[in-house]
Amino acid sequence: MIKTLVLYESRYKTTWEASNIISLIMGPSRRYPISKFSDDLRDFDFIVIGTPIYNGKIHPKMNVFLEKEHKWLSEKKIALFCTCFKGSEGLRVLREVEDSLGDNVLELGVFGGRLKMDRLTDRDYHAFAEYLSKEGLPPQGMDLFNKEEIVDWALRLKDIKDGLFGKLPLSQLRKEVENFLKNHNTCTLATASVGRIRATPVEYIYNQGQIYILSEGGEKFANLLFSSKISMAVYEDYTDMNSLYGIQITGQADIVEEMAEYKHVIKLKGMDMNFVRSLPTDLHMIRVDMEKVELLNSDFKKQGYSTRQVLKF
Ligand SMILES: Cc1cc2nc3c(=O)[nH]c(=O)nc-3n(C[C@H](O)[C@H](O)[C@H](O)COP(=O)(O)O)c2cc1C
Repeated sequence: MIKTLVLYESRYKTTWEASNIISLIMGPSRRYPISKFSDDLRDFDFIVIGTPIYNGKIHPKMNVFLEKEHKWLSEKKIALFCTCFKGSEGLRVLREVEDSLGDNVLELGVFGGRLKMDRLTDRDYHAFAEYLSKEGLPPQGMDLFNKEEIVDWALRLKDIKDGLFGKLPLSQLRKEVENFLKNHNTCTLATASVGRIRATPVEYIYNQGQIYILSEGGEKFANLLFSSKISMAVYEDYTDMNSLYGIQITGQADIVEEMAEYKHVIKLKGMDMNFVRSLPTDLHMIRVDMEKVELLNSDFKKQGYSTRQVLKF
């Protein structure tokens, strides 16, 4: 599994909080302040570095760290982020760091900072008051911290990371996904709409890239009527960390209205329309169009590939 190391410096915990969010989403990961950096962290694959901006510069300790670890970092894939009050300044500063690190920097993130005046040391209080007056801002604390933009960035980073290392050849990955779906018949279907969420265990049928679900009805339709976005999971029971096998699907689910498609799937299921009509209640059909499949298979590691593979449609 690709491991992410989130290294940060933070004086008033804003960058710490952003690092925490990023680390949770990027897992498997470790989050450390640079003061705790040690040699046993050098084997991490993907490095995320976070710093606050103070007086138009990255944190001085981060500066020292980047200089000291330049060689090690030049062999890694990196993402940089900062928290600050002036986005354009944050971006300028991160670009300078990017220039010094080289083209192994894959992504930059500039996030709003947060400060309460009463928490500042005397020195920072005066420096900050000076900074605010220079920027024409009132002498008061600010809260520009936005969890959502950090979550969005972390999800984008995860996407980038998934495409970086140990990728299975596409045709082999497609075959793996197809075989797994064909050899199973039960999934957990997750549907959601505003204020409602539902996870439903259901039988499914896989046929040539599409998944069909037959249903007498129920609460999942209360969600599907408002949002066709779904997530599906099919998996083996957990035994140990070396025998993981499961897939997560993200896609669109629609209620099948077209009669020809409905009849075709009923036939695939080994039923006929007379039987369906003879049922005491309606039998609805849902079609899932897959957009993304995430496959976890511990065996891939033995073959020299990443345990986690992503297939996009
Ligand atoms: C003394 C001081 C100087 C600052 N200078 C800048 C600056 O030059 N540019 C900027 O965008 N933000 C500046 N800020 C805001 C911080 O970058 C922001 O609050 C950051 O999120 C703090 O991160 P931390 O809580 O992780 O230490 C300054 C804050 C202080 C207290």
